[in-house]
Order: sequence, then structure tokens, then C-alpha cells
Amino acid sequence: MDSKYSSAAEKAVAKLSRDQLLDLGVGADFWRTKAYPEADLPTLTVSDGPSGLRYQKPGTDAKGMVISEPATCFPALATAAATWDSDLVEQMGAAIGREARSMGVGVVLGPGLNIKRSPLCGRNFEYFSEDPLLAGTLATSHVRGVQSTGAGSCVKHFAVNSQEYKRFSNDSLVDERTLREIYLRAFEMVVRDAKPQMVMSAYVMLNGIYCSDNRHLLREILRDEWGFDGVVVTDWGGMHNRAAAYEAGCDLAMPGGGKHLQRQAAAALEAGTLHEERVRESAHRLAALAIAHAGSADAAAVDVAANREVARRVAAEGHVLLANDGTLPLAAGARVALIGQMAEKPRYQGGGSSHINARRVATMRELRPGWTYAAGYDVRTGETNDALVEEAARVARNAEVAVVVVGLPETIESEGYDREDMRLPEGMNRLVAAVAAANPRTVVVLQCGSPVELPWEADVAAVLYAGLGGEAGAEATVDVLEGAVNPSGKLPETWPLHAEDAPCAECWGEPHRQSQYREGVFVGYRYYQTAGVPVAHCFGHGLSYTSFSYDRLAVDAASRTVSFDITNAGQVAGAEVAQVYVAAPEGGLPHPRVQLAGFARVELAPGETRRVSVPLDEKSLSVWDNGWQVVGGTYQVLVGSSVEDVRLRGTLDVAGRGIATPGKYAGTWYRSPKGKPTEADFRVIFGKAIPPEAHHTKGTYDETDSLLEMAETSGTCRFVANQIKGAVERQYDDPTDPQCRMSIASSAGCALFGLVNCSGGAMPDGVAHALLNLANGHAPWHRG
Ligand code: BGC
Repeated sequence: MDSKYSSAAEKAVAKLSRDQLLDLGVGADFWRTKAYPEADLPTLTVSDGPSGLRYQKPGTDAKGMVISEPATCFPALATAAATWDSDLVEQMGAAIGREARSMGVGVVLGPGLNIKRSPLCGRNFEYFSEDPLLAGTLATSHVRGVQSTGAGSCVKHFAVNSQEYKRFSNDSLVDERTLREIYLRAFEMVVRDAKPQMVMSAYVMLNGIYCSDNRHLLREILRDEWGFDGVVVTDWGGMHNRAAAYEAGCDLAMPGGGKHLQRQAAAALEAGTLHEERVRESAHRLAALAIAHAGSADAAAVDVAANREVARRVAAEGHVLLANDGTLPLAAGARVALIGQMAEKPRYQGGGSSHINARRVATMRELRPGWTYAAGYDVRTGETNDALVEEAARVARNAEVAVVVVGLPETIESEGYDREDMRLPEGMNRLVAAVAAANPRTVVVLQCGSPVELPWEADVAAVLYAGLGGEAGAEATVDVLEGAVNPSGKLPETWPLHAEDAPCAECWGEPHRQSQYREGVFVGYRYYQTAGVPVAHCFGHGLSYTSFSYDRLAVDAASRTVSFDITNAGQVAGAEVAQVYVAAPEGGLPHPRVQLAGFARVELAPGETRRVSVPLDEKSLSVWDNGWQVVGGTYQVLVGSSVEDVRLRGTLDVAGRGIATPGKYAGTWYRSPKGKPTEADFRVIFGKAIPPEAHHTKGTYDETDSLLEMAETSGTCRFVANQIKGAVERQYDDPTDPQCRMSIASSAGCALFGLVNCSGGAMPDGVAHALLNLANGHAPWHRG
């Protein structure tokens, strides 16, 4: 922290009374911290988010998530991640940072860098990858970009927040090795290398302790080990125990408005269970950040046209060509049928707190008015009918090529809830099958932020994954279809054949109150590759309109650098993302067959050859065994175009520790991962007793249950939940608006303590307590 701000903060904090200090630790409203002009302490404004600003002007809180200022809508981070292009992601960050400054926002709430554990997490579109090195590298670039403009970044959600179901209270049970190697590694990279100004604690519990109160996570790891000296803020409504949170190093509860958290902390100070020094430290960190951003608003910071160009480039590079029989790129002047309402009403961003009031959304239909159009389905649901399918087939039959645009309707993929399966709406699958039957030259464009099943893949000519491309996404799609842009995106996550193939499928999401991270480090391709489970499209996959050849591998053991030649062997310019994987020596702690250790994106003219050098990330050669340990021995080095498309092989001798395989693994799933790990397997790596997972009902409900859950057995809770639902619905012109479903999930569907925290005093904790008593069959005033 800059010493100038630190000493100004010290002076400000010295002028505050004890009550004011406690008050400062809880926000003023949804987006601002408290100001004390008499102590020269300004307010700090924060705003979502990771793919563009969702800035709400003061006084618009009452309209929930409905109103935000127009901003450039960049592609969702899942699509930005498919670029594997750190420089471009940094430019995107810088563009977001400039928009933040133009709106007077001090800190941008993002990026989110949770690991994609299951393809069904409703919020995967907002996260980078299943691989921590890729997620950490790109998040570091994003933060560097934002912070290069003078704005600050808040990385989130720290940590192990890989599902939406019961996100306010789910208990993530994770062993320390898995935590460090998979779920914290990206955070560690970004905190050490980009120094974000803020970190947002996750809603969930980590091993029985809420992340907001988690001393191991926030103090021992984040602050003491990684040296983070910025502000820790809770996720919105996620402050669980104000006193424990102060002790853990959590500085700020957001949003603000209520008083109960201050009362909680004051009582703990009185009782001596909270030390005033902790409160002062937090106040000091927050004051320094607020002072640093005071007066930094700069209305002229934004060049809207330049930002849109960045958005378009990210979208273009983020397109992943999954399959192509040569039909793409489209021949110049081809007669094209454009089918699917998403060509007219595109799905270009995810639902929830990252939702942006985009400036100008391009559509494929408007860009190519000459292509014959058929709607094919209803974009809100993905449903179709005989007439729509017949019309689409007729249009396809009369064209040289049929381009069918399908994807996930916004209600299916959002913050606040998970997907139920990996399928597209049935109507869309029916449409694609009918169009493919009518015209073998059918190209499918997918607009979604996470993997979907492709039951018709063998019957179509090409599949182009456009992701969630932001406001300029359609321009990028047309460019890629026509060959103006040569696709270079690579999948940052595996597309399994079915969601049930994921190793966590049995211990994830509904109906569990706890999430046992049984599969340990075997997440994503680390599992599929080790277990030999076939997938639809592997990690790192993505085709091009040209081809690349690899040659002359050299592995330098001293500098741990891998060098090789890449040649563009085709007729058009293109970019290749070369990936370097390592396979650790046999034995030691159970480990994945391969791990990503580095990558490079190279742009090449036709016929051009470039020598590429990729330094290997040390942690890819290490395990967590009471600290990071480089594992010695001979590694296989695999260089290629995806995790399965390996072109060059070499070896690397690494000096390091030899680790014997601990006997406890004998006969467990981890020795030869196939199928699903059991709770008995998990016990071996967890090393502690697994807490019982109780189903809550009348008599056992607690503050982690929502009004909607308690409504099942309590008429009063049903009434209040309906009142809240009604109030939320009235905020939206259309109650079927996807944002409305998310807002209900985050209010009536949110843990009772979170609802109190988010209510700005409208739901006092005493009332919540009375509702809980009623739900449990007690008198409202019952104590117990
Ligand atoms: C989300 C955060 C977001 C915050 C403020 C929460 O519900 O989980 O990612 O930054 O709301 O909108």
C-alpha cells in the first residue's frame, strides 16, 4: 500500500470513535462505503463487474438489479479465456478500468476465478477455466489491465465456490493438498503477481467455517503467506459472524444499511472475544483504499469506439471451431440460410451480477440481411413446433449452406442456480436434426457459456462455439464464418459427453448441504485423461482454417524452458495456441497423468515458422505436501495443440524431492481413478472426520435455510416468501425476465442470514429470528 495513503488513513482512523470504526466495517448502501468528512475519510464506490461495468447510480438500489448505466459489454470470461491470450485479456481489463473511472467507480468487482469443477455450475460462464494455471495467468492479466488505469480490482470468490446451489451456506469439504494445488493456485498467482486491491470472500463454508470468518484462508494463507495487504470484502450478504470475520482479517461487509453486524462486533469487543486492534487494522486498510480512489473519477477516460473494438477482438479470438469438414469458411457469395432466433436476439452475456446494460448489441440477422432467415424456435425457452421446424427445413433445403444458431436461453445459465443437465433445450436439438437432414452442409453456431451435449454432431458439417461474445459477438461470428477471422480459440475446459461423467457428479449440487470434494486434484482433464474417459471435446481443443506443424523440440533443464518450432503449413494466416503439458514421474502422491505447465499463442503468416520458448511453471512440477515441494525425477514433456493432440515429446530431469507413495492410498480410487470416488475414499485424503450432513426440516431449520425452503412447512414463511417474490417481480416489466429468477433465488431463496444482511434493515435480524422460530414450530419469541 502506498505510504501516502497509509498515513492519511492513519490520521482519519485516529479521528473516528469506536462506534464509527465499527460502522465503517459495514457498507453505506449496496455499492458505497461510509464517508466521514469530519475525519477526511471519503466514500469508496465499487461496482460489478468482470465483463463490463454494471454501475448503478446512487438512489437506484430500490430497483434491485434492473437499472445500470450503459456500458460496453465484453465477452463473458469463459469466452475471454478461450483466447488463451494474456495480452488481449489485459487490454480488456484496461478498457473496463477506464469505464470504471469514467463512472467514478474505484474498484471493479471481478474477475471471478473459481475453478470449473462441474460443467453444470450456473456461473461457469463467469469463470476462466478448470485449470488453475490458465485461470491464474488470465486473471493476472485482467487485474493488471484494470489496475493500469488507476481503478482497482476485486478478485472473487475466495474460495472453493464452484456451485450455486445453496451458495450462501454450502460446506465445501476439501483436503489441504487439493485446496492448494487446484482451488487456491490461481488466486495465489494473481495476488502475488498482480496485487489486486481487494479480495472478495466466497459465500460458502470451507471445511465448516464460512469463508468470511475463515482465519486459515484469509489470515494465514492470503495475508501471512501471500503478503496480501489490501481489503477483504465479503460477497454481498455473505458476512456470517462479524467478530470472527474481523479476527480472520475480513475488513468490510457488503452491502450496508443494517446495524446488526455492528451490534454483533460491539458485543464481542465487550466480551473480549474481539480485539479492538483488529477493528483498527481493518478500518485502516479500508480508509487507505477509499483515500486512494478519492477524486479519481475521470469522465473523459473512455473511448467507446475503442472499447467496442477490444470487445470485438476478444469475441473473435474467443470463438472455438469444434468441428469442420471443410464447409467453413463459407465460400464468398454462398447462398446461406440463417436459422434460429438467437441470430436475431442473441445470447451474448450471462445472468446475474455480471449482467450489463450493453451499449449496442450486434445481431447476425442485421449484419447479413441477404441470408434467408427462419426463427426456428422461441428464444426465451428454446421450444419449437412443427411449423417452425418445417419452415427452417424448407429454408435450409433452398440454400447452399444452413447456419443454425442455438444455445442456452438466459434463464438456464445464470448466477444463483445451477443447470440441471448439459442438454440444449429439446426444441433446439430437434431443429438442428431437421435442418441437418434437409441440408448436409449445416453449420451449428453455439451461443452459451458452458459445455452442452451435441447429440447431432456426427450429422452436421461444422460446429462453431461462439460462447457468450458480448455486444460485438455477432460481428465476430460473421467474421469467423466468412473467414475474415481465422478461428484460434481453444477450449479452456473439457466438454464431457454427459455431465454425469464428471468425477464430482455424485457429490455436487442439489440436494447436498455439503460438497465433498472427493475427486481431489482430479478435476476436469486431470480426471478424464487419467481415467481414460472419452469426452466430446478435450481441454485445449480448437480448429483453425490453416494447419500448424511442430518441430525441433528442445528442453533446457537448467532454465526449465521448452522450445520448439511452429510452422503455419496452410494457405491463410492464423494463430496457434501451443500447449505444454508435463507428466510427472511414476509414484509419489497420486497425481494426474498430465498437467498444463505453460502455453504460448503465436500468430503466423502462411508458410512462416517461429521458434517458441515456453518457461515451465514451477508449481506444475510440484505437489503440496505440507508446503510446495518440487517433485524430483524424469518428467515427460508433451507439446501440442490440445491435451489429446500431442505433437512433440521430450523429457525433463528435475532435481527435487522424491516422495514415496503413502500407504494410505492402497486400494483407493486415487491410485487408479475410474468411475466415482466414494466417501470412504474421500476420508483417506480429507484426513478428518466428515461432519454429518443433516437434512433440515421443521424443528431443525436454522439461519442457513431460506424462506422458500422453510415455506414448505411454515405458512408464515410461505407468506413472507411470496411477498418478497411479488416485490421482486414488480421490479421487472416482465416477470419471466431471467434476471428476475436470479433475484428471487438471491432473496427469498437465500439463506436467512444473507437476506438480513442484504435487506438494508428492511428484514431486521429479530424478525428473521421470529420467522425461524415459527418455521421450527416454536413461538416467535422462543430463545434457543
Ligand atoms: C455475487 C458477486 C457480486 C455481488 C455484487 C453477489 O451476489 O456473488 O459476484 O460481485 O453480488 O453484485
